Amino acid sequence: MSQFRLTRTLPEDATDAALRADVLAGLTSTPKWLPPKWFYDARGSELFEAITALPEYYPTRAEREILVDRAGEIADATGARTLVELGSGSSEKTRVLLDALTERNGLRGYVPVDVSESALTQAGQALVAERPGLQVHALIADFTGGLTLPDTPGPRLVAFLGGTIGNLLPEERGAFLASVRALLSPGDTLLLGTDLVKDEGVLVRAYDDAAGVTAEFDKNVLSVVNRELEADFAPAAFEHVALWNAEREWIEMRLRSRTAQTVKIQALDLVVDFAEGEELRTEVSAKFRREGVRAELEAAGFGLAHWWTDREGRFALSLSVA
Ligand code: AVJ
Repeated sequence: MSQFRLTRTLPEDATDAALRADVLAGLTSTPKWLPPKWFYDARGSELFEAITALPEYYPTRAEREILVDRAGEIADATGARTLVELGSGSSEKTRVLLDALTERNGLRGYVPVDVSESALTQAGQALVAERPGLQVHALIADFTGGLTLPDTPGPRLVAFLGGTIGNLLPEERGAFLASVRALLSPGDTLLLGTDLVKDEGVLVRAYDDAAGVTAEFDKNVLSVVNRELEADFAPAAFEHVALWNAEREWIEMRLRSRTAQTVKIQALDLVVDFAEGEELRTEVSAKFRREGVRAELEAAGFGLAHWWTDREGRFALSLSVA
């Protein structure tokens, strides 16, 4: 018997409170910033899906290539009977993993974790319809906060794909990996997707595509703030900027104010001035090297067991043991 359960570990108004706190902190800082998690309303999620199909945006294709090539090895190496996926979204790229785990290990549980209730319900309902015997226990949760996992059969494999760990700053990554480790028992595993350091031109083009989809995605955060917090940002008054920070080895996306302007955020009773050319940082997307990933995993109590890349060496999947 298949079954779909949905558990909310975030209060209904948590998102609103977190957005208010982030916008207040970020827009009153120097330099100004907003966290990338607010890109993903319905429009932002659609734009991100479009980004993954762009010729310049290689990470999604590179990661899929690794998953297709290695899913069997992953299933055998982990013996997992429960797959936990952090930031599952549409669960699209997970299918190849679910197939291998089902065939080889008799997968029992799938625990998709996301902040988007609509994505979880859609993906979860479809999966149980297709897969008799699979229990889908979806969690509405912010995976950077404290998670509690449902009591499904072990061993567990936690997957955090797409390179999304690169959105966290180094200190945040340490805390995040330690919190994931704390959820696991000895023998449980972590499958982590990390985009790799490479030629600067390739990286910058992946975040500043010729068709302007990433620019639109970047500006979408302003529309989110407009709608949710009654603000009056004019997205066209900002220019999308993507740059490589060679010292920190991350891509930064910024929105540069084309003119001196004032923005009102009514719900916060806040007025924010932008100077001409002033930049608002909207995303950090860190790129990694094998030894750096290994060190961060070890610091959190994981042991790196496998490191797989796509044929062009652009992206890596690592498998670590708790
Ligand atoms: C979803 C966080 C992996 O950093 O590459 C894509 C988001 N930003 N283009 C990334 C993103 C601009 C993406 N992650």
